[in-house]
Amino acid sequence: MKKEIGLKEGRLEFPAFPVVLVTVGENIIAIGLVHVLSFTPLKIGIGVHPRRYSHKLLEEIKDFGVNIPKKELVEKVNICGTVSGRDVDKFKETGLTKMKPKIIKSVLIEECPVNLECNKVEKLSFESSHDWFVGEVVAVHKEEDYDREKALSYWNKEYRVMGDLVMKR
Ligand SMILES: Cc1cc2nc3c(=O)[nH]c(=O)nc-3n(C[C@H](O)[C@H](O)[C@H](O)COP(=O)(O)O)c2cc1C
Repeated sequence: MKKEIGLKEGRLEFPAFPVVLVTVGENIIAIGLVHVLSFTPLKIGIGVHPRRYSHKLLEEIKDFGVNIPKKELVEKVNICGTVSGRDVDKFKETGLTKMKPKIIKSVLIEECPVNLECNKVEKLSFESSHDWFVGEVVAVHKEEDYDREKALSYWNKEYRVMGDLVMKR
């Protein structure tokens, strides 16, 4: 039996999104609106609200880092998604370590097992809230024993770990 539900309620019925830490310059923002938009070349889109300090930085800076956290970093992720770089240095606040990128200028995060260096190539604006910044991935760093299915996800105020393998094809 199904019943019709409201659009806002419906939005929250989506499965959880992966959560990443995006670095722009030396600031960090937690981002749930993230997706691979193109495979070759590899492009990633991030949805950022114009109110965020990171939005201003993304307008000014030509690149950004997409850092994929593991579940142990959940509290630091939450800080990066709660406080603004306008007021605090989030590297100092969280104790996360700056990692030197190979190509881009924005710093990366050492504690994240995967780091993607992105050159900003496009900005997509809709009539709604978030603007989408598209980055072309120019370098990737990965810890050897990283298990991507243990990545952190977030939606509707819940942090979770991604799921079980149910079939392989
Ligand atoms: C888990 C999580 C995911 C978030 N995802 C997004 C997102 O996709 N886009 C966005 O604009 N803000 C998102 N936010 C909110 C920003 O991370 C938050 O407003 C942050 O403090 C902005 O930092 P800034 O002002 O330094 O840019 C998220 C927050 C959390 C906790």
